[in-house]
Amino acid sequence: MIDLFHVFKTFDGVTPALADVSMSVGKGELVFVTGPSGAGKSTLLRLLFAAERPTRGQVVVAGENLERMRPANVPYLRRSIGVVFQDFRLLPTRTVFENVAFPLEVRGDGRSEIERRVYRSLKEVGLVHKAYAMPPALSGGEQQRVAIARALVGDPAILLADEPTASLDPDNAREVVKLLETARIRGTTVVIATHDRALIAAMNARTVALAGGRVVSA
Ligand SMILES: Nc1ncnc2c1ncn2[C@@H]1O[C@H](COP(=O)(O)OP(=O)(O)O)[C@@H](O)[C@H]1O
Ligand SMILES: [Mg+2]
Repeated sequence: MIDLFHVFKTFDGVTPALADVSMSVGKGELVFVTGPSGAGKSTLLRLLFAAERPTRGQVVVAGENLERMRPANVPYLRRSIGVVFQDFRLLPTRTVFENVAFPLEVRGDGRSEIERRVYRSLKEVGLVHKAYAMPPALSGGEQQRVAIARALVGDPAILLADEPTASLDPDNAREVVKLLETARIRGTTVVIATHDRALIAAMNARTVALAGGRVVSA
């Protein structure tokens, strides 16, 4: 589902954010990308949803070679990828329902399909009763669950999570972990960037460790 071949990324032409990274994630697999701050974890995830381009090397996601992909096709790639961030990134002036509906609106789903999917997704994260709340009125844990509902509402093949528990207390972090695990059980390919050792220990999944942009263990 995801393949990187000798990927290099530099932002200034000199310092490598990623250096000779090769890795592969199979369909329905859950993999952690770990390593200290500055190791290149976020850059790696950003390459996978085409927010950045590699300086050198190949990135293949859901059958698309991102180097050869035309910019016009980026939105189609994004439809097969859900993304969750440390800071939730919800639209603060839109209801929970509207936030979760957003990716479906973008792809042009009809009203009844949107309602069906949004309520299903909110039910999965236990937040149907907050559908008409505004995100700033929710706790951090609830906001992250809304972000997960939004990421999964369109049934993406791939879920990317960048430090999804870093802003949460241990109880809420555990809840988020459960939801990511549930996505994997349903066949979603999941990549989680984290330096949270408790999160990694709780999951018993393959871990790719980065340091200074290089894979130091896989
Ligand atoms: N947009 C950017 N412009 C310049 N340098 C960047 C940019 N994004 C990341 N970097 C640099 O790339 C390296 C890896 O960063 P990052 O991928 O954010 O690491 P991590 O997520 O593991 O903390 C760091 O040295 C960082 O400063
Ligand atoms: Mg990061």
